[in-house]
Amino acid sequence: MEKGKFIVFEGLDGSGKGTQINLLVEEMKKRGRRVYQTAEPTESSTGGMIRDALAGFVKRDEYELSALFLADRIFHNVNPKNGIAQFLERGIDVVCDRYYYSSFAYQGIDADLDWVMGLNLGCKEIIRPDLCIFLDVDIDSCDERIEKNRFSREIYENKETQRMVRNRFFEVFKKLKDSENIKIVNAAREIQEVFSDIVKIYETI
Ligand code: TYD
Repeated sequence: MEKGKFIVFEGLDGSGKGTQINLLVEEMKKRGRRVYQTAEPTESSTGGMIRDALAGFVKRDEYELSALFLADRIFHNVNPKNGIAQFLERGIDVVCDRYYYSSFAYQGIDADLDWVMGLNLGCKEIIRPDLCIFLDVDIDSCDERIEKNRFSREIYENKETQRMVRNRFFEVFKKLKDSENIKIVNAAREIQEVFSDIVKIYETI
């Protein structure tokens, strides 16, 4: 049986990933694909520890956070009930909101980037996506969306950090350009315009 396709969306907080993921998943289903939609951090117990740290309830070192995201990601891949690996094996596509690129861009600022990359890319349980779509939106627009849509801000949701994260994403994409299929989409446009570019990219895989 043909394996499912594994598609990851990345972008800054407030870049509109959720909207575009929902649109793409609907489109894939319309075309007869079976699709599992998922996100990181997951709903696992490790995911819960991560969310407490993101909310600022518990202070955690960035190396510690990198390890928590890694553990959560391994669980996300291998768990037999709703793990990514078993869906792909069964021919079901997986569309995921954030993946290891976020660990590189966010934790790779205060923790050593090569260390974070080595942990993730060197782990055989962590599956490499067939496609990563990065929704690129300028920092000011993201910040406006965060301001409008959130009751409170998480630890990374400030302009200074987002600027560093965005630069890190581009640095990481350069490093990975020969080994991964990463596409950058200008997402500071109308929803339908952005979506039509995403569909064209999707059709390449
Ligand atoms: P986000 O997609 O913003 O979820 P929500 O819309 O529910 O807030 O992701 C949560 C945060 O987690 C985001 O600020 C990025 C961060 N993150 C990392 O720092 N490292 C990672 O490896 C992942 C997957 C996410």
